[in-house]
Amino acid sequence: MENADQEIIICRCEEISRRQILAAIADGATTIKGVKIRTEAGMGLCQGRTCRRLITQMLAQSGARPAAELYPPTSRPPVRTAQVGEYIREEDD
Ligand code: FES
Repeated sequence: MENADQEIIICRCEEISRRQILAAIADGATTIKGVKIRTEAGMGLCQGRTCRRLITQMLAQSGARPAAELYPPTSRPPVRTAQVGEYIREEDD
């Protein structure tokens, strides 16, 4: 049963399991950014809105830092390229 708990998905977007998050913490991650760098948790489509709270809880439970000291990482929303013409109205209209 314990192994099943380890395979629970914490970050649905990047399919990162509890075991992988705990391994990142054991590897020295003490911040959300540290976990993100080691596992890519929080880099998915929702940008951590779903998994950030769970990762914060896991870090706090590990004793790395109190939850109040775990600031959210800088948000960098996904971008897509656009043609300049999409922003310019044609004057002939
Ligand atoms: S659930 Fe982790 S980035 Fe979306």
